Amino acid sequence: MNPEFWQSRWGEGRIGFHKSEVNPLLLKYFTALQLKKGSRVLVPLSGKSIDMAWLAQQGYEVVGIELVESAVQAFFAEQNISPTIHQHADNPAVKYYQGQLAKQTITLWVADIFALTAEDVGNVDAVYDRAALIALPTDMRLRYSEQMRQLSNNAPQYIITLNYDQSKKDGPPFSVNSDQIQQYYCNYYQITELANEHTTIRSAPEITVTEHVWLLNAANDSSELS
Ligand SMILES: C[S@@+](CC[C@H](N)C(=O)[O-])C[C@H]1O[C@@H](n2cnc3c(N)ncnc32)[C@H](O)[C@@H]1O
Repeated sequence: MNPEFWQSRWGEGRIGFHKSEVNPLLLKYFTALQLKKGSRVLVPLSGKSIDMAWLAQQGYEVVGIELVESAVQAFFAEQNISPTIHQHADNPAVKYYQGQLAKQTITLWVADIFALTAEDVGNVDAVYDRAALIALPTDMRLRYSEQMRQLSNNAPQYIITLNYDQSKKDGPPFSVNSDQIQQYYCNYYQITELANEHTTIRSAPEITVTEHVWLLNAANDSSELS
């Protein structure tokens, strides 16, 4: 998936992944992270997800990363927030939008996730990954998982994936099974499956799909491995 793919999806309004309600699996299990109020949650490949507004309403700071600027602008417009716009100090191609919701700061980077550093993103207490890992094809996912580990400095991750027979449909969303989750994350994290539920994909309602929620906590010796 190159940037043009996502630019044209947003440009043409082909954003079936965007939901008008807060993700039920966020509502149900996010407390498993036991985050303190004021914690900072990183939302990779954020789109204009209203899950970010919900996180702010729960008392968390939010930092999102999204390639397409119109998605970032739409998020703030739909939340009735007038953001301030900041330029990256060293990279003129990268900027971030910042605004307040429920007294929490929401920072949305307009950037390729691979172009940012942990220093850019700042402190991260947890990662919320919905439709991010599974938006990427197989050959990008190991690199993505490593980038997420670097950007979050081994913070816990809450990841929602879909698992289905990939031969029946092209992604995105791509199918990611539990072996692949192990492959991408087991070197650095203890992996717990919090839930799995049957679901459907809008573009292929006939396919059997299971949605999984994963909780990743840094393995004790992860600092030695990094
Ligand atoms: C499937 S959508 C999911 C959006 C959001 N997480 C949600 O739940 O609605 C994936 C998003 O990632 C963005 N994206 C794709 N590749 C990216 C990259 N390399 N860096 C940052 N954002 C990216 C796309 O523009 C798109 O908005």
